[in-house]
Amino acid sequence: MKIAVVGSINIDQSVETDRIPRKGETIAGQSLKYTPGGKGANQAVAMGRLGAEVVFFGCVGDDANGKAMLENLESQGVSTTHIQTIENVPTGIALITVGDDDNTIIIVSGANHYVDKPYIDKIKHYLTEFDLVVLQNEIPKETNLYVIDFCNQNHIPVLFNPAPIEGVDMDIIEKVTYFTPNEHEAELLFQTNDYEELVKKYPEKLLITMGEKGVLVQLNDGETLTVPARKTKVVDTTGAGDTFCGCSINGVLKYGLDNLDEAKLKEILTYANAGAALITMKKGAIRSMPEPENIKE
Ligand code: RIB
Repeated sequence: MKIAVVGSINIDQSVETDRIPRKGETIAGQSLKYTPGGKGANQAVAMGRLGAEVVFFGCVGDDANGKAMLENLESQGVSTTHIQTIENVPTGIALITVGDDDNTIIIVSGANHYVDKPYIDKIKHYLTEFDLVVLQNEIPKETNLYVIDFCNQNHIPVLFNPAPIEGVDMDIIEKVTYFTPNEHEAELLFQTNDYEELVKKYPEKLLITMGEKGVLVQLNDGETLTVPARKTKVVDTTGAGDTFCGCSINGVLKYGLDNLDEAKLKEILTYANAGAALITMKKGAIRSMPEPENIKE
């Protein structure tokens, strides 16, 4: 299966603290680490590890971080041939605070901002070769809409992970094949926390991840499916959502995108939950991505 990820590449600057500081507060951190990340890159690596042929479309800056990220993605089996290096622009950065079994993230988009319409015009003819196009919301909003419209015209399925949720249009959900917000993102976008009612409106399209409560989806036959999360000792939640999206591809590799019945969907989501749980047990995003044999076990 050929998957195109059109998305973001970041270097994550993660500070570990006992807790997330309050507004206006200064607290001490225990460590500072620079590791590969970015929602697009994380999802690409998770999918590649499971055996999908993954090609990345995005931008890095002409700095050491950009070089390191290209090397990292290549070493993980993700094709970087179409990644553009932007002169005099830094690679994207994510400032992450890890504490309270959770995190906060601030993104400075840098080169990710250059994943724009002119870039898409250069690469879009390649997208027709793919079985699935995967998008997140760390590149310009108009680029995502442009790619989605192109995919619709060319009947290419799209998985859209609306993270971060800021600036996501409600009507985007009508245009994509899979839409995978977490519960906070779903609440902000749809202005409700009645998730069971919400998924009923978008069967087998809207998958809401709910942290330790698992994942919720409505089946075409009318049943609502909740697949519980695996309990773990959480060290760092960075990249858990990305690993879930990436690992959901495993069953799709096995069964294809069509005719996913309840048993297959349960299997797919159980596997993706296990992948997401495993990454929270280690620090960092790409560097902590679980291997298929660990997920299976
Ligand atoms: O989803 C986790 C990712 O969000 C991090 O790797 C960081 O780069 C931000 O993009």
